[in-house]
Amino acid sequence: MRTNTINRRKFLKQMGAVGAVSTLPLSLVELSFADTAKNFTFAYISDAHIQHISGSKFVYNWDRGLIRAVAETNLLQPKPDFVMFGGDLAQLGTREELDHGAEMLSKLNYDYKCVMGEHDYYLDLGEYWSKLFGPQYYSWDHKGVHFITLNSILTYDEWTHERWPSAKQRMLEMAGLDNPNGSPFMVGEKQREWLKKDLAKVKKDTPVVLFSHSPIQKIYKGWNFWTEDAEQVQALLKPFADVTVVYGHVHQIQYNQIDNISFYAVMATAWPWPYPQSYAQAESNLPKLTVPMNRADPFFERDATGWQFINHKTGRIALNYNLYNNTNRTVAYNPKTGQPEDASFQEKGKRIPPQEHF
Ligand SMILES: [Fe+2]
Ligand SMILES: [Fe+2]
Repeated sequence: MRTNTINRRKFLKQMGAVGAVSTLPLSLVELSFADTAKNFTFAYISDAHIQHISGSKFVYNWDRGLIRAVAETNLLQPKPDFVMFGGDLAQLGTREELDHGAEMLSKLNYDYKCVMGEHDYYLDLGEYWSKLFGPQYYSWDHKGVHFITLNSILTYDEWTHERWPSAKQRMLEMAGLDNPNGSPFMVGEKQREWLKKDLAKVKKDTPVVLFSHSPIQKIYKGWNFWTEDAEQVQALLKPFADVTVVYGHVHQIQYNQIDNISFYAVMATAWPWPYPQSYAQAESNLPKLTVPMNRADPFFERDATGWQFINHKTGRIALNYNLYNNTNRTVAYNPKTGQPEDASFQEKGKRIPPQEHF
């Protein structure tokens, strides 16, 4: 973890400088302030996929996505208590990419913590990432909430250590969305044992928020929208009254409720993946509650990308998706129905129909 603190004067100065050139998504001014002493907010940026070309050249569009998310996060009012980065900071796990990404994240005016993504990991098995950002799984307490970060993108030892002739090939095989040479993600026994011990210290009525890169549920194995030992992790979380899982990796808005656990995916700043059903023609590949967003503009390079502002209220979260040049979305836990719901589009009649192109 890197910690960045600057004095208030410098903060205001930077804010003014960025504000002059930036168009803020409306939701930044519409957010309601916490109404009890327990409420707080944090921000979530994910899947920047910083990609090195050669020398000092990087893919410009991915850089812009992260730079903009960092700048807008710095302008938030109320200020978030901290920022999470949800994994896949790099595209192919190189030092150049991780250094360049870390440099951009260092511009955040808040403390931030990172989640490991498969694009960060499979070149050197997380070695350089850990030098920059610290442990790959950890927990901490903040204002009465128990937070946990897992490295959920591990896989079988044989695949990781024996199958590929080089580290670079291993990285490339795991980097593809639909590559049949990939291998299912998992948390693994070692971390599950750690999690069990970690949770043993936590009271059952304490809200638990878990961050992972892959979903701790099984959505679509063909694209590794998947965690092989999801049920075993869910079982460890089952005794707790309020559990939230926030995950990256899928580059799209998804949400779901399984037993006591609310699941929310975060958007990427780099690019959107399609919804599994659009390719696989199988509705069961999307979490049951998810309302897919209309994203019909392939000529706008930031379409269907974004970052998140999260309001933590009384044990549950409201996730505000900040989409560039698009209608922002809010998915919040509804205590009446006991599940996350889209504040504007959950009802069928209110959904935006897909655009037609001629
Ligand atoms: Fe990603
Ligand atoms: Fe990923």
